[in-house]
Amino acid sequence: MVNKATKPTDALIGHDSWNIQLDKNGQLKHFLTTEGLGSALLTQILDTAESFADVNEKRVKKVPLLRGKTIVNLFFEASTRTRTTFELAAKRLSADVLNINISTSATSKGETLLDTLQNIQAMHCDMFVVRHSDSGAAHYIANNVAENISVINAGDGSHAHPTQAMLDMFTIRRNKGTNFGNLRVAIVGDIKHSRVARSQIHALNTLNTGEVRVIAPRTLLPVDIESMGVNVFHDLSTGIQDADVVIMLRLQKERMSGALLPSEQEYFQLYGLTEKRLKAARDDAIVMHPGPINRGVEIDSNVADGPRSVILDQVSYGIAVRMAVMTMTLGRERETAADGEKEDNKT
Ligand code: CP
Repeated sequence: MVNKATKPTDALIGHDSWNIQLDKNGQLKHFLTTEGLGSALLTQILDTAESFADVNEKRVKKVPLLRGKTIVNLFFEASTRTRTTFELAAKRLSADVLNINISTSATSKGETLLDTLQNIQAMHCDMFVVRHSDSGAAHYIANNVAENISVINAGDGSHAHPTQAMLDMFTIRRNKGTNFGNLRVAIVGDIKHSRVARSQIHALNTLNTGEVRVIAPRTLLPVDIESMGVNVFHDLSTGIQDADVVIMLRLQKERMSGALLPSEQEYFQLYGLTEKRLKAARDDAIVMHPGPINRGVEIDSNVADGPRSVILDQVSYGIAVRMAVMTMTLGRERETAADGEKEDNKT
């Protein structure tokens, strides 16, 4: 629990939130949101990740790019994929990794978030990877850490999940090529509570995607959704018509207040992706999901496990994308796998 006195709020995110993400040379220092970053920088993340995808295929899956650096995973909220792939990414870059167990840490005894951070900082670490249930938590931490520390947002409330969005862009690029302008991408489900959808929409629009659609019942859409540059649909079959990419989202029940849906069964009847419904999309459409998936709620098992599904590829690519973000923020002068191999040969 964050002490009330230091509880971050949406207001802390600020209008120029992306400015604190870049150093004075315009390079990525923190990665807090995909909003406001340019297409060149997002493309640099994807290109850098390509070089690390090869490392992950090798017998020895390790490069020394972040040797001597210490990365701290601070997860105040549950995670399987994000926490483990961040840990693997850090280890494959030869960094030391510390996983703080929040339930047994001093924050659970009433210490403020800031005091906890200052204590960990005193141990001379270089990066905080943060997941928190409050929107704005990662920005709050980035605004309060020492100058030499980078902060990566691993998901804050319903605000942003930038590394998830970038691994999703990587998955799309691997399957559909580099020209996003040719693509129609449909995002289906609980857009209102989804930090993943927000980060995806910003990234897709920055990469000049041909059309970005969102498909959801009115109760699961934010009021200002059109202002994000998307076309809105309420009917699934119409919304995924001729889509190249269909991204399904989990119902974020932990963030819902009040009854926004009649029942999960009814939701599946109207918005669940089945093989029959998927026929409306293009024949070569891919199906994505950030996980964890709820079979029989937002997606049928035949689709989740079927030939169009790239859901497990997304998880694998998450390692390469997180390696890219870590090297771009921490090793700003040495940031490709080839650079790491050169470094290795010196020792
Ligand atoms: N996609 C995602 O954030 O999954 P986890 O909650 O398991 O990290």
